[in-house]
Amino acid sequence: MTYVVTDKCIRCKYMDCVEVCPVDCFYEGENMLVIHPDECIDCGVCEPECPVDAIRPDTEPGLEQWLSVNTEYANKWPNITVKRESPADSAEFENVEGKFDKYFSAEPGQGD
Ligand code: SF4
Ligand code: F3S
Repeated sequence: MTYVVTDKCIRCKYMDCVEVCPVDCFYEGENMLVIHPDECIDCGVCEPECPVDAIRPDTEPGLEQWLSVNTEYANKWPNITVKRESPADSAEFENVEGKFDKYFSAEPGQGD
C-alpha cells in the first residue's frame, strides 16, 4: 500500500506534510504535491498533518485516480522536504469541488 495526495491539495498546497515524512517522498507540482508510492513506507504520520485532509491511504475505495496521478508525477516533479509559504489564496480553494479538472497543472514546482 501507500498513502496518496488527492485533489483536495490542489491550490491549497499547505506543505505541512513534507516536514514530517521520515523518507522525504513528497514531490512538488505547480499546484499540488504527490507522494512517491514506491518510497512511502506507510507510516501514516503525514495524514493528520494536512489541514484539508488531502492525504489518504490507498486502501480506501475510489482512490485509483489519485494513485495514478501520484505515481506518474512523483517521477516527473522535484523532491520537496522543506515547507515554504503556501499560496496567498490557499484558503479560497479549501472547499472547491472538482479541482482536478479546473486547476490541475502538470508543470513542476520549484522543489527544495
Ligand atoms: Fe511519508 Fe509516512 Fe506519509 Fe508515506 S505515510 S508519505 S512515508 S509521512
Ligand atoms: Fe497538500 Fe495538505 Fe500537504 S494541502 S501540500 S497535502 S499539507
